[in-house]
Amino acid sequence: ATTETAGPSSGGVHAPGRAAIAARQLRTDRWWLAPAVTATVLTVFVVYSTWRAFANADYYAAPYVSPYYSPCIATNCVNMKGGADLQIFGPWWGLSPALLVLIFPLGFRLTCYYYRKAYYRGFWAAPPACAVAEPHRKYTGETRFPLILQNVHRYFFYFALVFAVILTYDAALGFRDAAGRWGHMGLGTLVLLVNVALIWVYTLSCHSCRHVVGGRLKNFSKHPVRYRMWSWVGRLTAHHMALAWGSLVMVAVADLYVYLVASGAFTDPKFF
Ligand code: FES
Repeated sequence: ATTETAGPSSGGVHAPGRAAIAARQLRTDRWWLAPAVTATVLTVFVVYSTWRAFANADYYAAPYVSPYYSPCIATNCVNMKGGADLQIFGPWWGLSPALLVLIFPLGFRLTCYYYRKAYYRGFWAAPPACAVAEPHRKYTGETRFPLILQNVHRYFFYFALVFAVILTYDAALGFRDAAGRWGHMGLGTLVLLVNVALIWVYTLSCHSCRHVVGGRLKNFSKHPVRYRMWSWVGRLTAHHMALAWGSLVMVAVADLYVYLVASGAFTDPKFF
């Protein structure tokens, strides 16, 4: 049933000129399920990650280092890997060293095209789902402050590449035992390997990556190498949503695993 509800002061979907539909939406499926699951999982992830980022403890169980605390750039994590990777922050830094590095992977995910869609729907209902009217009266997209800052995503992509390299190095160190001898392999080694593999495919499936390798070309015929790379990245990009969720869950699992081993709650099974 449709009725005329638009008035001169109405905004949003009731603005003059919009179809006069009284119902908030006409979908009959469970359209609310996806935004509800999104909001729930992201809330759990944010609460867990905030706790771990501020914990400043149990992030290193030789030879495994939590992805939340790598690289170490403060002197107050000197017990890790035999010392800080880069002592950029001296003894005056008294807070958790995770706070110094998490801004980069966090910024990468926060500005990711997929996560933007997910949390705009899950938390702001803007809109909650396709063909479901949003409750807001005005829509300015991402054209104004602060959302215009989402454009920095392309720069976070380069930082994300650096972090993927660092986490690859950490995963390789998982093949050393606690004394530093190569040839070790435990469940933690596998956990870090799976984590970094997902980080890589998620990072390489980024839409900015696709543009970096194949964008701004007038034709592909003169750039066969870039065309080939663009095709590979495009195949990954098609799965960006799944990779975003998979790597999000796995990075928390990797941190949780290191936490359980470092705190003594779990003993890392060794394969050899
Ligand atoms: Fe999602 Fe770049 S678009 S990481």
